[in-house]
Amino acid sequence: MTQSKLSTLMKRGTDLLGSETAIMCGAMSWVSERNLVSAISNAGGFGVIACGAMTPELLDTEIAETKKLATKPFGVNLITMHPDLMKLIEVCGHHNVSHVVLAGGLPPKGSLEAIKEIGAKVICFAPAMALAKKFIRSGVDAIVIEGMEAGGHIGPVSTSVLAQEILPEIADQLPVFVAGGIARGEAIASYLEMGASGVQLGTRFVCAHESIAHENFKKAFIRGNARDAITSVQVDPRLPVIPVRALKNKGTEEFTRKQIEVAKLLDAGEIEMGEAQLQIEHFWAGALRKAVIDGDVENGSVMAGQSVGMVKSEESVADIIKTLTGEAETALAR
Ligand SMILES: Cc1cc2nc3c(=O)[nH]c(=O)nc-3n(C[C@H](O)[C@H](O)[C@H](O)COP(=O)(O)O)c2cc1C
Repeated sequence: MTQSKLSTLMKRGTDLLGSETAIMCGAMSWVSERNLVSAISNAGGFGVIACGAMTPELLDTEIAETKKLATKPFGVNLITMHPDLMKLIEVCGHHNVSHVVLAGGLPPKGSLEAIKEIGAKVICFAPAMALAKKFIRSGVDAIVIEGMEAGGHIGPVSTSVLAQEILPEIADQLPVFVAGGIARGEAIASYLEMGASGVQLGTRFVCAHESIAHENFKKAFIRGNARDAITSVQVDPRLPVIPVRALKNKGTEEFTRKQIEVAKLLDAGEIEMGEAQLQIEHFWAGALRKAVIDGDVENGSVMAGQSVGMVKSEESVADIIKTLTGEAETALAR
């Protein structure tokens, strides 16, 4: 009976995703590749490939390899500011990708239409109500609302506030997935009861056996506490920094130092504004790869959400999903 309550609350989400349970594993650059994505989908969740800065050729290979391993639907996450966005959409079309998740700000003109044209469902991140309503008018199929507890690039508002603001107003119009800070089924149950159709988790899945993240990266997660997952700080108002939540290490301190150094060069007239902003951006290019793939968790970026303290061991994806749904069912039965 309780099982059916969870399934009922998730029904719009599972119908949209074509999965058994409406638990999405949010795309994580370098982590969400063929192995983790297929494992999530095959275990009844919904995996999403992180395209990140991949070229169209690399994405083509990643989708092809994921298709060989996955027996269930999965999605592809594209970053809106990628210079080859339209080509990446074409690659998704070539592979008949069923779901495209657009992250990283307003989708450029024509991109939503292009995704519709390839026959894929389109899911967008809505960090505020106004944007959520705009997306509904544009005909997107679902929305993700992600709070600042999440790992990676974040907005300024917490998940609990976004959920209270957005779910009562729009959850009857299209499926909404809640993300950020979720690591237990009780939280999943509460967002479903507020009107969400599903959830998206990232941090909780990083230490899955099937995740290719370096052993050091996983150990840092297992050791980490909520308070270690801090946001990057912007030092100079002229040099914009999109906040990133990651475990505190030498790399986070070095980033602050780098911003001060670049600001000084700017003050001295030794570099132009464009060059200064580029230097800031380049600092992080590759930092996540350094930590996830090379295992340099001191100097690289160990992006992690505040829920990192609830990641206690390496487990299989199937066990994680089973634990989450079990906890959600128990909570709903109470
Ligand atoms: C290591 C890491 C890398 C991430 N990379 C991306 C990314 O490339 N694109 C994206 O849309 N979200 C990215 N995210 C966010 C996740 O997709 C997901 O929304 C988030 O992790 C959910 O919050 P949680 O970490 O509290 O579970 C990343 C998160 C982490 C932890």
